[in-house]
Amino acid sequence: MSTTKKEADTRGLAGQTIGETAVCAVNQTQLIYRGYEIADLAANASFEEVAFLLLVGHKPSSGELDAFSEELAQMRSGLGEGVLSTVERIARETPDAHPMDVLRTAISLAAHEDPDCGDNGPEAELRKSKRLLATIPVIVGTHQRALDGLPRIESDPSLSHAANLLWLMTGQKPGEIAARVMDVSLILYAEHDFNASTFTSRVIASTNSDMHSAVCGAIGALKGNLHGGANEAAMEMLKDIMEDTASGDMTVDAWMERAFAEKRKLMGFGHRVYKNGDHRAGILRDWGIRYAEQENPDTRKWFDLGDAVQKIMLDSKNIHPNVDFPCGMTYFAMGIPVPQYTPIFVASRITGWCAHIMEQHQNNRIIRPLAEYTGPELLEWNG
Ligand code: SDX
Repeated sequence: MSTTKKEADTRGLAGQTIGETAVCAVNQTQLIYRGYEIADLAANASFEEVAFLLLVGHKPSSGELDAFSEELAQMRSGLGEGVLSTVERIARETPDAHPMDVLRTAISLAAHEDPDCGDNGPEAELRKSKRLLATIPVIVGTHQRALDGLPRIESDPSLSHAANLLWLMTGQKPGEIAARVMDVSLILYAEHDFNASTFTSRVIASTNSDMHSAVCGAIGALKGNLHGGANEAAMEMLKDIMEDTASGDMTVDAWMERAFAEKRKLMGFGHRVYKNGDHRAGILRDWGIRYAEQENPDTRKWFDLGDAVQKIMLDSKNIHPNVDFPCGMTYFAMGIPVPQYTPIFVASRITGWCAHIMEQHQNNRIIRPLAEYTGPELLEWNG
């Protein structure tokens, strides 16, 4: 009996290895950041240690970590008044502007005041990476406070990077578990080899353009709901399911069957690489449930609904959740406004992007693949 091998679907470069990196390995069995496995990092490292590992290239000694953390704390106040007042003006004048667009605008403005902007050398790019890492939480926090009609908050040097991000957004010092959950989520989101936004940053860097231009392009890519924007879209989907099934007229199964019939993409599910599950999803789900049970028991219902949706997706489609699915529920339980979920993703993935931009600049050849022409054969303009 002849068997026809299903042609591999290579649209979107699926399954194509198109370059090398020493930063990260993503495959069905492991997610590794510069040799360290993600479950090991999530259990035993801080986000600052992971950021140092990605940007500098090795696990920091305690002295290196102290110096790095101190540098980040000092750099947090490095944004000029022009950047922050513009963010606040946008919040006042166009409150519906998406926080990812505001963040992209702010980083574009920050480029003009960065003394290293045009320097693609390794030392200058490491300085720029640290400035971006330090200041993105300040931009995100300032924007959220302005949207809430509240004054800007100054960073607190006694707080960790993750805790300071929550402080800048909410004006409340986070408790131990909130700080730890945010820290773990930043570790899980930090890096993921040639995903769409990272590959975008490498293409821009490969033309000898600068780090800020590459990061602005990466933010544009991450915003899409097929990529980083899925964490917000996943939470909105769960809110729709909760609302549509609240009266009891519709079951979750019926809601999902309708979605399947409409051929809807269910946000937070599936992955281009992971076909047997995203190594990060279970880690974040467990931390999210721990937070909900300890700090906000009323939100445990979202994880119960999430588990029901996840089971239906697996049983019906054999499709697993990706990291964005538990992220939505976890950040919702923590009271973080949904439109800030993807900007927080940026606050973490800036480390991976900058590591790849530096790697590209240090061993560069312009990225320019081929295209197969499918347009009309040769025509004569006056023919
Ligand atoms: C991230 O690449 C990375 O590493 C990204 C990321 C990172 O850390 O950087 O991991 C972060 O972006 C995670 C993904 C977040 N996106 C979503 O959750 C959006 C919903 N997911 C789908 O759009 C989709 O699964 C993608 C975009 C994630 C993957 O796209 P693929 O590889 O083109 O999809 P596939 O080949 O695995 O799917 C085959 C079929 C689909 O056929 P098409 O409709 O695309 O022709 O499986 C079905 C679908 O029929 N399918 C889904 C589905 N995902 C796949 N059906 C319903 N809902 C889904 N989510």
